[in-house]
Amino acid sequence: MEHKVLVIGGTGLVGNALLRAWTARRTEVAAATYHCHSSGGFLQLDMQDEARVRALLCRFKPTVVALPAANPFVDYCELHPEETRKVNVDGTLNVARACRDNGARMIFFSSDYVFDGLKGLYTEEDAPCPINEYGRQKAEAESGVLAADPRNLVLRTSGAYGWQWEPKNFVLQICARLSKGEPMRVAADVRYNPTYVENLAEITVALVDKAAGGIFHVVGAEEIVRHEFAARAARAFGLDEKLLLPTPLAELASPTPRPQESSLCTDKVRAAVASHPIGVDEGLRRMLAMAPSWRIYARSLPDPAAKIAPTRG
Ligand SMILES: NC(=O)c1ccc[n+]([C@@H]2O[C@H](COP(=O)([O-])OP(=O)(O)OC[C@H]3O[C@@H](n4cnc5c(N)ncnc54)[C@H](OP(=O)(O)O)[C@@H]3O)[C@@H](O)[C@H]2O)c1
Repeated sequence: MEHKVLVIGGTGLVGNALLRAWTARRTEVAAATYHCHSSGGFLQLDMQDEARVRALLCRFKPTVVALPAANPFVDYCELHPEETRKVNVDGTLNVARACRDNGARMIFFSSDYVFDGLKGLYTEEDAPCPINEYGRQKAEAESGVLAADPRNLVLRTSGAYGWQWEPKNFVLQICARLSKGEPMRVAADVRYNPTYVENLAEITVALVDKAAGGIFHVVGAEEIVRHEFAARAARAFGLDEKLLLPTPLAELASPTPRPQESSLCTDKVRAAVASHPIGVDEGLRRMLAMAPSWRIYARSLPDPAAKIAPTRG
């Protein structure tokens, strides 16, 4: 069956990659939204406003609603739990109820931070055991999304990197700091699966095509220490890796307790779709190869997505 897609949070790192992947597949993108950062062709939406979420679904009648929208700032969530819960839990559940009542399937993006990081290689069968507010919000939202409709998809991802308008993700931060010759302290005792965002988007599209439902871990193929990943990124981008200072997590000032070994097992998604998670070197290589063209590419999406091409930057 052909889908008609609505992307809530289309201006973000994951949302923008989803738009590229669905456009490349010639799937109909009915609309995509932003929240604060106005962008040509995107519609404004605050998902805390349930009436506006419902109005959007009634207007565009999507069969699939992707929700990469969130407040993903872990420290901000820790310091402002009530404010961020209204977005990450209440806002998510507004979308889940609207999807249920309009017969649309929902794709919710969750996180490795639903786990405590004591074990590593968590499977979809492992019970969530968050140790910070962001993780608690994600775990609660996951349950609500699946309770609203078991056909919904919950995709847990981790350390997403790729091109984006604001250099927020880890790889772009490394590029920004090291290219100015600034040293950067990086955790030497945190292990996770960095995820190339275009690979996450391709796998998401494949899962939607298969009408998969439930929880899937969609992360990069490699479990790697954060400092080692940073060093490989520096090498790939021709930057001085000696500026990366290996540092114990406990010495990196943060108000948030963070999981140390939050790697995720990807056996379930590998068995479900032909599109597989890729490793760090392939992800970085693909990111570099996209460098000269990604802005042009994002601006020259064919119809109907031309109307949602980003104009920021
Ligand atoms: N990036 C990662 O490494 C990572 C890892 C694990 C899980 N995740 C999860 O994956 C999802 C996507 O992350 P991301 O990195 O793409 O985030 P992002 O780049 O910060 O994008 C977030 C998107 O949500 C929108 N948004 C924020 N508040 C909103 C609200 N109240 N109502 C409607 N839209 C709102 C933003 O719009 P404006 O920009 O216009 O404000 C933006 O389009 C999130 O659920 C995140 O928790 C991400």
